[in-house]
Amino acid sequence: IVKVMENYQITVGHIEGVPLPSITCDAWDTIYGFQARGDDILIATYPKAGTTWMQEIVDLILQEGDAQKGRRAPCFIKVPFIDLVPPKPMPSGVELAQTMKSPRVLKTHLPINLLPPSFWEKNVKAVYVARNAKDCMVSYYYFQKMNKGLPPPGTWENYFSTFLSGDVPWGSWFDHVIGWGKAMDKHQILFIFYEDMIEDPMREIRKVTKFLGKDLSEEVLENIKYHTSFQAMKENPMANYTALPSAVMDQTISPFMRKGTVGDWRNHFTVAQNIIFDEEYKKKMEGSGLNFRTEL
Ligand code: A3P
Repeated sequence: IVKVMENYQITVGHIEGVPLPSITCDAWDTIYGFQARGDDILIATYPKAGTTWMQEIVDLILQEGDAQKGRRAPCFIKVPFIDLVPPKPMPSGVELAQTMKSPRVLKTHLPINLLPPSFWEKNVKAVYVARNAKDCMVSYYYFQKMNKGLPPPGTWENYFSTFLSGDVPWGSWFDHVIGWGKAMDKHQILFIFYEDMIEDPMREIRKVTKFLGKDLSEEVLENIKYHTSFQAMKENPMANYTALPSAVMDQTISPFMRKGTVGDWRNHFTVAQNIIFDEEYKKKMEGSGLNFRTEL
């Protein structure tokens, strides 16, 4: 893997105008044709919205709070990422999912219009985690710096425009949250805000538990909260991506579990950028019915 990744040059293609790693585009027919099962649980997010956090929560709900079982494998093996096709010999998300026993928990970053139709045909339950765009942008900037599977972000100044224009892998943050938000009317989707999870993790863990039709004791819920805290996950080698070689993710550049806060954008946005952002945001989000908080 180290050799493959050292020689790997990421390129980006497009599917229906959405930028995606070329290796994903090359495997598009297989990904779009993915066969969901009725008891799958899908975790859908725009990148950096708190995907891994929700993966750990959902997995521990299914394991009834048994942290030992939660550590049976790294998060990216337990929860296949169906739209990712890493270079060989690493298995693709689809391949991993196909060999998995039910109930499966699956991850996607796809905008709703690119989701394999089988998920809705099978009436699969989906948990969508949304995070405010400003913090998402900052988090994605650092992630694109350290993840060799993504294009380097360039300077912060350039990245600011790139992100706003939606020219980043998996496309526009705006299209993503608006698309998934609208789909709530039609499908079994639980929409969770990252900021709400930070504010009151217990409340949000309860929501997810109920949505999945589980009934867990207070003690188990407390246990889940404890093991999915930022600190616990940062120290958990199965959750913090240190199971991947640095040729894939170089955590000396930026750790995967970086800050885990609301409002870090204040340390990065200039006053001028903030004005530009707020104007653009108002135009794009008007009438969306979605209210994001950028600070608590
Ligand atoms: P930061 O870069 O702002 O720290 P994803 O899993 O979608 O890639 O999202 C990663 C982001 O979620 C990172 O944000 C990471 O620190 C944060 N995160 C992961 N686990 C968390 C937790 N238990 N509590 C709070 N934030 C968490």
